[in-house]
Amino acid sequence: MFDKSAPIRFKGDLPDYLIRHTTFRQMQIFEAIVRLGSFTRAAEELFLTQPTVSTQLKKLTDVVGLTLIDQAGRHAKPTEVGEELYHTIRNIFDTLSDLDTRIASLKGLSRGRLRLCVITTAKYFAPEILGEFCREYSGIDVSLKVSNRESILERINNNEDDIYILGQPPEEVNIDTYSFAPNPLVVIASRSHPLCKESNITLERIAQEPFISREEGSGIRIAAMKLFAQHQIAPNIRMELGSNEAIKHAVVGDLGVAVLSLHSLSLEGAQGPVDLLDVEHFPIKRNWYLAHAKDKALSVIAKTFLDFAKSRGPAIRIQMESLYAEFVQCHEGRQEK
Ligand code: PGA
Repeated sequence: MFDKSAPIRFKGDLPDYLIRHTTFRQMQIFEAIVRLGSFTRAAEELFLTQPTVSTQLKKLTDVVGLTLIDQAGRHAKPTEVGEELYHTIRNIFDTLSDLDTRIASLKGLSRGRLRLCVITTAKYFAPEILGEFCREYSGIDVSLKVSNRESILERINNNEDDIYILGQPPEEVNIDTYSFAPNPLVVIASRSHPLCKESNITLERIAQEPFISREEGSGIRIAAMKLFAQHQIAPNIRMELGSNEAIKHAVVGDLGVAVLSLHSLSLEGAQGPVDLLDVEHFPIKRNWYLAHAKDKALSVIAKTFLDFAKSRGPAIRIQMESLYAEFVQCHEGRQEK
């Protein structure tokens, strides 16, 4: 236990005249003059005028009562006492710099924990962002939870995570959101589907096909159904599956067509077993959002991750644009055959 009644003892008495009359700025100026061997260069480094540098050095010299810098010749050299003071000041500055590092680490940039929770479909890109983040901030412990929309809303209410990634900001909970990357929704079919050879397919035509839908509550399902409803069309839902991967397999098995995020096709690309259909009103342009509870005091790690993820938005946009262009090119190639 610390004894709070005991006076603080230093090794020897602290020179009262230095404490009372010296400023950190004077120490900084003196340190720069000795290190750089020049008043002019010290002034440049500290963005000060040369007279300011000379005045502050004079004040420090008056406090100490002995000459600190020998100005004979072109080089500014410390006197014997100047040398002593220089080493002392360097020690003080080194200690302060260590303190700064320790404070940063206590604030959590070099160690600590980030809890990220993302909606089902964000699993196609969130781990990559997290991986890059971990490479940059190697001491940080991360946890990634992939959940459906309903359970994400519950987690936000229970304050279980630091940051969320979702496809549609919920209105029912109090959160701050930041749109940061595109999330285009496309219509997919197996490569052998007859509609792959057609262009400008109408929504009515899609409604005649068996439709494989995501489960109730899925953001993709909400967006797709909204589009059909806007055109007073009801898709012919053949089955509902709770996973994008299961839907892709069902599509490849010729069980029907589906609406998915283009992100879900990023690994297999345009040469994979599914194709995009050229359907009117598609792709549906949606965005990904980073979010956190409104009243949550974010840790330094969480704030840093937020900025980090936002900065990855443009690269994700380029990736989506080129993947889409690749599909269009393959599609056109097949139509020409
Ligand atoms: P989902 O959400 O994975 O729940 O469909 C993604 C989205 O809203 O785009």
